[in-house]
Amino acid sequence: HEEASKVKNIQTIVIGAWSVDTWYYSPFPGDYGNYHTLYFCEFCLKFVRSTDALQRHCNRCVLRHPPGIEIYRKGNISMFEVDGATNRIYCQNLCYIAKLFLDHKTLYYDVDPFWFYIMCEVDDRGAHIVGYFSKEKYSEEDYNVACILTLPPYQRKGYGKFLITFSYELSKLENLVGSPEKPLSDLGLLGYRSYWSLVLVDLLRNEDSSALSIYEISEKTMMKTEDIIGTLQALNLIQYYEGQHIIDMRRVKNLKMGSKGLPCDPDCIKWTPHS
Ligand code: COA
Ligand code: NA
Repeated sequence: HEEASKVKNIQTIVIGAWSVDTWYYSPFPGDYGNYHTLYFCEFCLKFVRSTDALQRHCNRCVLRHPPGIEIYRKGNISMFEVDGATNRIYCQNLCYIAKLFLDHKTLYYDVDPFWFYIMCEVDDRGAHIVGYFSKEKYSEEDYNVACILTLPPYQRKGYGKFLITFSYELSKLENLVGSPEKPLSDLGLLGYRSYWSLVLVDLLRNEDSSALSIYEISEKTMMKTEDIIGTLQALNLIQYYEGQHIIDMRRVKNLKMGSKGLPCDPDCIKWTPHS
């Protein structure tokens, strides 16, 4: 991609309590791309060029959570649903931030066709963004996630698995199988492989799985059959025998699995599919 090969512009973003070193180029508009550091309001995601400007903004900004509807709450973790068409600037600014940590694809800055699901940690000062995923309002390719990001200060703590779990819980409520948009980044693939492995091994250990077909696993998990087969193959659990996929149950029992990540409680999702 032309965009991917561009030289990194912004070196650091300040957001909430964090000063975050960036990874890649992002196409900030106007002369914003010429600055070493950009300062973000952690609630409305407006960005400015100096701490003074941020201070002036924060004195006026009344937002204390993402500009959408809270559709999940358990303990101090919240999820907000934001409509790209209704909160265009917020969602575009989120895409600019995401691109700082993604080099492999052109992000779409036409945000109208997407929902954005914002994960927050809540305290008495407000709901602080820790990550998000976006999702096409209508996907011809069965994608249930377009872009997914855990902000670097929160990475490797199980938030990514929470976000992925949440995306599949929405797919279950929609009764649609789903899969992340391709291509996945290296980190994206690691995160998904880890989630898919956990779900499949968990299912195979708890069900009378000798009778489960790949299709039935797909119905239970809302995972695409190709992701199921790919994961079982990566775990070396599958054999193809006389036109049938056979799962090696002895290996399933003995596998050592990674951490479950931050738990996502489906009973706490207050959401019904759109249209
Ligand atoms: N190195 C090696 N493995 C890693 C890793 C790293 N830096 N970061 C994540 N993983 C793997 C681990 O296997 C982990 O499982 P484990 O806990 O059993 O070890 C699994 O990914 C999930 O980790 P988790 O903590 O739940 O994910 P995260 O909060 O770090 O978020 C991403 C994962 C992909 C969302 C995050 O890395 C990210 O935002 N990356 C930049 C944006 C991006 O590439 N998005 C995907 C685009 S398709
Ligand atoms: Na992506």
